[in-house]
Amino acid sequence: MHNYSRQHIQTHFDHAAPSYDEAAILQKTVAERIDERLDLTTVEAKVIVDLGAGTGLLTEKVMQRYPQAKIFAVDLSYKMLEVAKPRLQTPRFTGLGNTVNQLLAQCTLTKKLFTKNIAIPINADAFQLPFADGSVDMLVSNMMLQWCDDLDAVFSEIRRVLKPEGLIMFTSLGPDTLKELRQAWQTVDMEQEHVNTFIDMHDMGDALVRAGFGQPVMDVETFTLTYEKPIGVLKDLKAIGATNANQRRQTGLMGKQRFAAMLNAYEELRTPDDQKIPATYEVVHGHAWAGQEIFKGPNRDKSGHIEISLEDFSKQLKK
Ligand SMILES: C[S@@+](CC[C@H](N)C(=O)[O-])C[C@H]1O[C@@H](n2cnc3c(N)ncnc32)[C@H](O)[C@@H]1O
Repeated sequence: MHNYSRQHIQTHFDHAAPSYDEAAILQKTVAERIDERLDLTTVEAKVIVDLGAGTGLLTEKVMQRYPQAKIFAVDLSYKMLEVAKPRLQTPRFTGLGNTVNQLLAQCTLTKKLFTKNIAIPINADAFQLPFADGSVDMLVSNMMLQWCDDLDAVFSEIRRVLKPEGLIMFTSLGPDTLKELRQAWQTVDMEQEHVNTFIDMHDMGDALVRAGFGQPVMDVETFTLTYEKPIGVLKDLKAIGATNANQRRQTGLMGKQRFAAMLNAYEELRTPDDQKIPATYEVVHGHAWAGQEIFKGPNRDKSGHIEISLEDFSKQLKK
């Protein structure tokens, strides 16, 4: 049973689709971070899935990095994928803006020049991926997994579609995310959770292992965005579709009064140096291999099997 309503998540991202790109400053930066990390991998990625691709910020980078690969941009929200379409059909020319890029996307010459460089949008749920077992070389995912409260289920599904030597590389959000907003809400209402709760990186690593992934590597990077007013934080969250996903929410007069009191409490948290309103984002980076044992490392054969003499084995046991 999921505590987060998938319907709610989908509706929010459908509404946020037109405003998403302008507000998704952090998501763009983190997509660049994933792209930098991909520089270090040697995976031969012929089939790639961008899970929770949204408007295609990361898909676009993956398309440029792996021009020969077959790339799928999967998202629960059809509207997010609609916004992504110009990005997925041709490479985007940075600095030219959406309108010019859309015109270029319709131009026959541009299409001909870059026929290979497309990604296929797929409107689907991460918990039920429309791919055959062992058919994907690499799955990337930027800032989507925090929406999946049943990590065991989603990681198992991802592992199912990955080839045995396939790679998952993702980012998600950790528990310190929006700590100021959470604190402001707690001063006015201790009973209800107004801010999404986020899973710790160690728990994410454990979930990867439970799902059968090998050699998970996790780390965190903290970003602090600053705003002139507390309402700016809420506006940005709404623009990117990231409002509270918990099902019980409060409306009515009481709700409005508490909201105003929360904004006042948030005012108290201005940064001492420049008096700005802070919003912390703890970005969790993770990657792991679909095979429990990856065939890298001493004495391993391609299946991950370790060849070791009985003598060496007993020496190791004695250490
Ligand atoms: C914060 S956005 C990130 C989008 C994109 N990866 C980026 O870097 O900008 C999260 C995306 O995950 C999608 N999403 C949430 N839950 C999902 C699920 N269960 N299956 C597929 N997509 C999902 C949302 O529709 C949304 O587009």
